[in-house]
Amino acid sequence: MLGSFLTVLFAMGQQEDKQLNLLPVPVKSIRTAGYFTLQKEISIEAPSVKSLEPTLQFLKQRLSIPTGYKVSINNQPSSASIKLILNQQTDPLIGKEGYHLSVKANSVTLRANEAAGLFYGVQSLIQLLPAAIENNKLASAKTWKIPCVEITDYPRFGWRGLMFDVSRHFFTKQEVKDFIDQMARYKFNVLHWHLTDDEGWRIEIKSLPALTTKGSKRVDKTGYFGTFWPPLPNEPLNYGGFYTQEDIKEVVQYAKEHFVEILPEIDVPGHSLAAIVSYPELSGTPGAEDYRVRSGEKIMDWHTNGTFSALINNTLNPSSEKVYTFLDKVFTEVAALFPFDYIHVGGDECAKNFWEKNEEIKLLMKKEGLNSMNEVQAYFEKRVGKIISSKGKKLIGWDEILEGGLAENAAVMSWRGEKGGIEAAKLKHEVVMSPTTFAYLDFMQGDEIIEPKVYASLRLNKAYEFEPVPAGVDPKYIKGGQANIWTEQITNTRHLQYMTWPRSFAIAESVWSPKEKKNWNNFIQRVEQQFKRLDSRDINYARSIYDPIFTCTNNNGEPLINLSTEVEGLDIYYSFDNSFPDRFYPKYTQPLTPPKDAVLLRTIVYRGNQPIGRMVTLPIIEINKRAGIKKPAQPEE
Ligand code: ACM
Repeated sequence: MLGSFLTVLFAMGQQEDKQLNLLPVPVKSIRTAGYFTLQKEISIEAPSVKSLEPTLQFLKQRLSIPTGYKVSINNQPSSASIKLILNQQTDPLIGKEGYHLSVKANSVTLRANEAAGLFYGVQSLIQLLPAAIENNKLASAKTWKIPCVEITDYPRFGWRGLMFDVSRHFFTKQEVKDFIDQMARYKFNVLHWHLTDDEGWRIEIKSLPALTTKGSKRVDKTGYFGTFWPPLPNEPLNYGGFYTQEDIKEVVQYAKEHFVEILPEIDVPGHSLAAIVSYPELSGTPGAEDYRVRSGEKIMDWHTNGTFSALINNTLNPSSEKVYTFLDKVFTEVAALFPFDYIHVGGDECAKNFWEKNEEIKLLMKKEGLNSMNEVQAYFEKRVGKIISSKGKKLIGWDEILEGGLAENAAVMSWRGEKGGIEAAKLKHEVVMSPTTFAYLDFMQGDEIIEPKVYASLRLNKAYEFEPVPAGVDPKYIKGGQANIWTEQITNTRHLQYMTWPRSFAIAESVWSPKEKKNWNNFIQRVEQQFKRLDSRDINYARSIYDPIFTCTNNNGEPLINLSTEVEGLDIYYSFDNSFPDRFYPKYTQPLTPPKDAVLLRTIVYRGNQPIGRMVTLPIIEINKRAGIKKPAQPEE
């Protein structure tokens, strides 16, 4: 009896979550009857706590700008209908970041143990209001109602990150703040800031000024990054940028106000060309004085078996004491700027082919009893680990730091699938999961025929499968997960948003919500509601989920094209006659074989009478190629 009662309650809860459209989905929410309607004069009672002030300003702005209503905040006990309360006695269930939100017809009460919990509760409260609450101007003729609800919510993981690469392309201080603003809305709490790479050093280090006077500049190029012609000696270094220490302090403060920690990354010993251009003595290769910061030309050879080699030496010399003196200076200043406990030291994709030829490195190997180049890198990482701990910080690095032996206390960020994370957790080291399989947001999110080209793909439905705790691993070592946004092919902030949303919704839910609350069909409905909010905020996002998935197979020498979509309930219309299909064209119902002489398949996706996807054109030559079919070319006109 109790069982069936609970089943009904659970089913109701599931349904109500859908109606509430909260993203990430909360731990528990029960919709009760009725609505709380905002009055023209809104009074909010909140504790007088400095760390909460920006949250209250945010709440005030949201409740006043689009509504035109008057909002006042007071710190005294009052008859305010909206109350934010810090618990006198800690509620262990909700921890540091959780909250209880109770919306009744005549009151809204938000309780938390700490200011962070109130911040996240406010995010949920805003999401319960209509999407127009996100407008930055008066939105007329709306009723501002919040559904009555009882929510208990807290995160599954303490580390909920997004990595933002500002080296390959530079993003201004304001753009970084905007990124923080966007991520915090969905309860992310770590910004992993990839500040250095071959393409630019972006953080002022006062004791090493050339890092930014030289290392932050390159030749501006447009096209497909990675395939550019090498810059000519006289081409101007007209692309670049860096953050002064004052800028960094401002961004750190902004992040703090949004309950976001910043994890700075200084990527060494590979990916270090910008540092070497600034200080050539850091390289073990003669001629480094002539190197230039990479402008997108090829500098590495990537082999099909997963190995790689560098065409110019973009690595620091692990046998040089000058390198460790340099790193000590860098990390002294980095540690002073960033309050977060961790510093990321990179460690990924360090080519060893120049190290193999270096006599000093051979001597180091003899002296230290190192038997392989991986052990040389491990030696380097251990020395860096000592520097990092001498600054009172913990080291985290990409999973390559496992190869050749992991430094004491090092935390591992697993990116080459889950393998590194599993291995590190088995060694009882802390792990953050960010596998390419689910969490690389630089990858294409739809068919390559229409998406801006990148070398790999990751659809929203795959990102939603992200499960940060790998099978067979003790969850206590998994600090959480994050998605990574590399910016080789992302040159501007609109495209950054396009690549970030909606896949970051999938990651947000994977790191905040209970595993058992995740449900694709329910998620996608909430994603569509969030699209309206992003529209209200003028934030770009990809609509790739509305484009067809083309599966081309070989059916006895003829191509067979299967069409589907990530979202259910959509119709695909198509043409083979080169004209633009709409809903009066044939509707896809079963796999298609192109007419013998067709040159193009064009598709468009509708929901009911509304076109919802983009016009996608797939040449038949491409279809044949995907199906592995060789056919003679069409006769010339
Ligand atoms: C990486 O994607 N190279 C960490």
